[in-house]
Amino acid sequence: MNYTQIITAAENFAKEQLGQDTTGHDWFHTDRVRNTAGLIAEMEQADVFICTLAALLHDVADEKLNPSKEAGLRKVHNWLAEHLSDEGQIRHIMLIIETMSFSGGGGEPMSTLEGQVVQDADRLDALGAIGITRVMVFSGAKGRPVYDPEIAPRDESLQKEYRDYSKGTAVNHFYEKLLKLRDLMNTPYGRKLAEERHAFMESFLEQFYKEWNQGSRKLL
Ligand code: ADP
Ligand code: NI
Repeated sequence: MNYTQIITAAENFAKEQLGQDTTGHDWFHTDRVRNTAGLIAEMEQADVFICTLAALLHDVADEKLNPSKEAGLRKVHNWLAEHLSDEGQIRHIMLIIETMSFSGGGGEPMSTLEGQVVQDADRLDALGAIGITRVMVFSGAKGRPVYDPEIAPRDESLQKEYRDYSKGTAVNHFYEKLLKLRDLMNTPYGRKLAEERHAFMESFLEQFYKEWNQGSRKLL
């Protein structure tokens, strides 16, 4: 198989695996991450093939879509072993996918440029208008309220609490995670793309509070 055929096979595998997921890991999320990763890879002179494959497969191993994280990673490894002959490429892509999932404090830093590119692309999809949409959809799916002025944001570095969706609100997730991502960008171009999306979320929140509080002086 040549590179184009492998990429097409990976697209089909990801589409089939992610299926109808409605929690923010649908095929279109993967497709956007793949496109953004390609864009950043070009600007940062990273290996586009590695970035594209890692982006396409990054959510297939997600613990939310598999019996366990290990089972998910095994599935991706098996697929790679069937489609790539270069052991180094397989190891590199596995390293990226293993390191990528952001739980609590953020885990290990990415050690390769390609990993940094794909991680930036995934984080960018949690920002801006798309990011706002994903938080709201995810929160609805988990039964979280959009906002409650009585509930303060939590420290998301407390891993146990991070996946406890019963406490907390969609708006708090901006403070717990999303507004921190800009400063965690790995690459200069990723950071540049994050700036605009970060600013958009800040103005969204400003408008949100303005509307929430309009008339709250209460005449009666
Ligand atoms: P990733 O895209 O890195 O796999 P996650 O699985 O953590 O990210 O989240 C998927 C989407 O759901 C993201 O857009 C994220 O902002 C949103 N999300 C994750 N955790 C929460 C949460 N506790 N409350 C609201 N939205 C969340
Ligand atoms: Ni993702």
